[in-house]
Amino acid sequence: MARDGLRPLVAGNWKMNGLKSSVSVLDEILSGYSDDLASAVELLVCPPVTLLHAFSGRAGSAIAVGGQDAHQSVSGAYTGSVSAEMLSDLGATYVILGHSERRAHHRESDDEICAKAEAARHAGLTAIVCVGETREEREAGRALEIVASQVDGSVPDGATAHDTVVAYEPVWAIGTGLTPDAADVAEVHALIRHRLTDRFDEAGTGIRILYGGSVKPQNARELMGVADVNGALVGGASLVAADFLGIARAYLP
Ligand code: PGA
Repeated sequence: MARDGLRPLVAGNWKMNGLKSSVSVLDEILSGYSDDLASAVELLVCPPVTLLHAFSGRAGSAIAVGGQDAHQSVSGAYTGSVSAEMLSDLGATYVILGHSERRAHHRESDDEICAKAEAARHAGLTAIVCVGETREEREAGRALEIVASQVDGSVPDGATAHDTVVAYEPVWAIGTGLTPDAADVAEVHALIRHRLTDRFDEAGTGIRILYGGSVKPQNARELMGVADVNGALVGGASLVAADFLGIARAYLP
């Protein structure tokens, strides 16, 4: 348990990577998730939707499994889309929403992400709502303003620790090997915490805030040690069991 009393969460975002044979990576993660690690940190793997059913069957209750997006409607004429209820039906308990790649490539707005988070809650999923500034926005001194407005616009009314996690992922840190320094991470996470407690009072203190963007075993301990960082959202390094477990081990005493 971290010093703020929240159980840390290390979540792997596999993005559009993985085939049926990738179940072997999950098996490696499961076998390395020792009792001491499990008592220190919760693990979540979000594979492509094609692997969700196989992964949730394999992971059982040891490791949580989640989706990477969900449509805001329960069902209907939305060719190619998948609803939160469908993810839940496959054994998912989490869903990543509003990742910067979806904000950029699919033009997802805060309103749409908020509607998706409401649908996720309705389906019994915990939404991981992603926020983060671009390089241009940081260089223009607008990082805090951008993140605040994304948090305000994307996190739905009535959010609780049970149905919501927020992930701060500076766009310029994703897949680049660059990370903000600890002071910058602390500043943004403090701001997010403030927005959440302002709006949700006590419930806002229990919502976990993850850091994401080039988290590796080598920098995990420093990043995870920052105040109000309650875990990590990991892309590239989550595809390699030893790296993903190495990041989780940052939480061992
Ligand atoms: P990265 O991706 O760890 O490969 O930088 C993080 C993410 O996109 O969630």
